[in-house]
Amino acid sequence: MTRIDLCCGLGGSGKTTTAATLGLAHAAAGRRAVVLTIDPARRLANALHLPLHGTDPTPVPLEGLGFPGTLSALMLDHTATFDAVVRRYSPDPETAERLLANRYYRAISTRLTGAHEYMAMEKLTELVEAGTWDVVVLDTPPTQHLLDFLDAPDRVQAVFDRSVFGALAEPGGGILGLATRRALALLERVAGATTMGDIREFMRLISGLSAHFRERGTQVRALLDRARYLLVLNAHAPERTDLDGFLDALSDRGRTLAGLIVTRVAAPAPAALGPAELAARIAGVPQAEAWVRALLAAREAAVAAAQLDGAAADRLGAQAGLPTWRIPDAPEAVRTLQGLATLVPNLLPLAAQSQ
Ligand SMILES: Nc1ncnc2c1ncn2[C@@H]1O[C@H](COP(=O)(O)OP(=O)(O)O)[C@@H](O)[C@H]1O
Ligand SMILES: [Mg+2]
Repeated sequence: MTRIDLCCGLGGSGKTTTAATLGLAHAAAGRRAVVLTIDPARRLANALHLPLHGTDPTPVPLEGLGFPGTLSALMLDHTATFDAVVRRYSPDPETAERLLANRYYRAISTRLTGAHEYMAMEKLTELVEAGTWDVVVLDTPPTQHLLDFLDAPDRVQAVFDRSVFGALAEPGGGILGLATRRALALLERVAGATTMGDIREFMRLISGLSAHFRERGTQVRALLDRARYLLVLNAHAPERTDLDGFLDALSDRGRTLAGLIVTRVAAPAPAALGPAELAARIAGVPQAEAWVRALLAAREAAVAAAQLDGAAADRLGAQAGLPTWRIPDAPEAVRTLQGLATLVPNLLPLAAQSQ
């Protein structure tokens, strides 16, 4: 059975980089791994040889790294994925083409609330169904809220429920997100009276796919039940992640966190001078005692504000009762495949775990 490693975390925490490193670690552990990634930095996309468009994973060239497994990578292309779903699951090709050409579909298909999360899950299900991968590493979309992703199947199913689509035509947009309402307003300005016709046709055509969306919702929930959840936390700003809140919300949904990956961990700080040594260094300076006090206070503040070092990262994990893995702060390494490979030993124990 294909394993699923799900990297959660705030936007900017280092999720995408961590997901790529974990994918490499799985290849190093001898697996056929695939990383489904979202918005990688350009350098990382180049390092992984990611195509800019496309809906199929591309092999990452691992020659010279000596890894027994393989890694492929795929960048989520929302529009292409949604269009592919329409082509594949519409009752007939004609319905599919009319839906794809529908102006309303074109305007909203990627703006629906939850659409990005839905597309990630559509792709995840496809990758698992393909049966060609030992593990899928999923980099989650940059959501405002850590848990948007987990709730997406329910939300998406509600959105694609035919009766709910009726709400589209209602003034105010009902359940629709602000972006969709703006798109609708724009459409109305551009297309005038034909807009209602577009919407009605859209609703009629998309209802042919409602069985697919329902079935996918059920499949995705089953996949999410057996996925391994990993929280990526940035050592530069650990306080941005509400760890306790995340753990509570996860357990409310009947799921547990498998561990914490603290990334951008600082190298250990050089040993600091104690108060006595500090006083000896500046003995003879006027008001030396006041200087020592001020310097110590300043250092304390600097330490508190600084990024977590390895020991602090481990303490954080231990307090939460979670296994913890660390990735060092390595701005140069994260730009190339060879560089990323040097970070693999940090995640190898996690990749090698049986699930
Ligand atoms: N271990 C690391 N060391 C140094 N820089 C890193 C590390 N991991 C990520 N970064 C940098 O941090 C930024 C955000 O990383 P990214 O993986 O895109 O985060 P996210 O996917 O959570 O938004 C990028 O510029 C990336 O190069
Ligand atoms: Mg990202």
